[in-house]
Amino acid sequence: MSTPDDLDLAAQQANALQQLDAAETSDAIEDFYRAWLAPSGATTKLKRGIGRLAPADRAAFGKNVNALHTLLEERFQQRREHVKTRELAARILAEARDVTLPARPRPTGGYHPVTLVMREVLDVFQKMGFSVFESPHVELDEFNFGLLNMPENHPARDMQDTFYLDTERLLRTHTSAGQIRAMRAMHPNPVRVVLPGLCYRNENITTRSEIQFHQVEGLLVGRSVRMSDLKGVLLQYARLLFGSDQRVRLRGSYFPFTEPSVEVDILCTLCGGAGCRVCKHTGWLELLGAGMVHPVVLANGGYDPREWRGFAFGMGIERTVLQRYDIHDIRYLFGNDLRLLEQFR
Ligand code: PHE
Repeated sequence: MSTPDDLDLAAQQANALQQLDAAETSDAIEDFYRAWLAPSGATTKLKRGIGRLAPADRAAFGKNVNALHTLLEERFQQRREHVKTRELAARILAEARDVTLPARPRPTGGYHPVTLVMREVLDVFQKMGFSVFESPHVELDEFNFGLLNMPENHPARDMQDTFYLDTERLLRTHTSAGQIRAMRAMHPNPVRVVLPGLCYRNENITTRSEIQFHQVEGLLVGRSVRMSDLKGVLLQYARLLFGSDQRVRLRGSYFPFTEPSVEVDILCTLCGGAGCRVCKHTGWLELLGAGMVHPVVLANGGYDPREWRGFAFGMGIERTVLQRYDIHDIRYLFGNDLRLLEQFR
């Protein structure tokens, strides 16, 4: 192998190009530069060797060293480009991400279908100026029954099979239990509230009934409230929730805490009144119970029934959920089966 002292330029050139070809990394390329082309490198040393030559040969040798330097400089640039490009390509390949791959699904929560319908219902009443009033699930017998005009041993208590916690406390059987609480909280101002929440009854569990279910109660108390106001509010509610051509039908009924009392139906949301399986070919669906607040209940809430009047209604939410989403068994709503819940995201 030639050394910098070796003035055989052809041998030096062959040696240099061989080293350059062997340089596979940026570091090796820089080493080559330092060895051959830098001011302290081999070509500079060759130039210094010129003194050892016969004067006649010096000009040609100087030219040839310069030519060698130029050649090595040129090859060095090319090789450096080449190695850099290859290194970049390797890095890109190593860091590559396939952006066309579908993202891995991230598990996210969703609202329960009951929550979805509940929110819609409350939204409609809030648009009509009702505010939400919450009352406890564990309730006093007095609020659930007594103050609602159902004293002890009143036969209407048997309409609802009750979970008692002790002699005074129970799980509320209806949101009507919150009526008295709302009136006492608002007195002496007019009342316009909706009371949402779970209710509990000790019933057989079937495809249509559960021991827990949601209700939304409405209560409006003012100085000149009439049955026609009740009907107007319920018609408006039915139209906002079920469509602008909805109709409501009032049938006489009985509740101890309203007088007169009605059951309210809407046109069947499936067949529009023509008659089908869902409405048992009547064309109507039962929506809720309602009536004018009984004077005894008004008085228990602190409102003088000679000056104040009110209406109240109470509706179950689950039935609307089952109809809306075509679910055939109420037990699915409390089963917490992800295969059902994941459909509501
Ligand atoms: N609380 C009654 C029920 O659960 C419904 C109702 C509420 C009726 C308000 C009249 C007025 O069946």
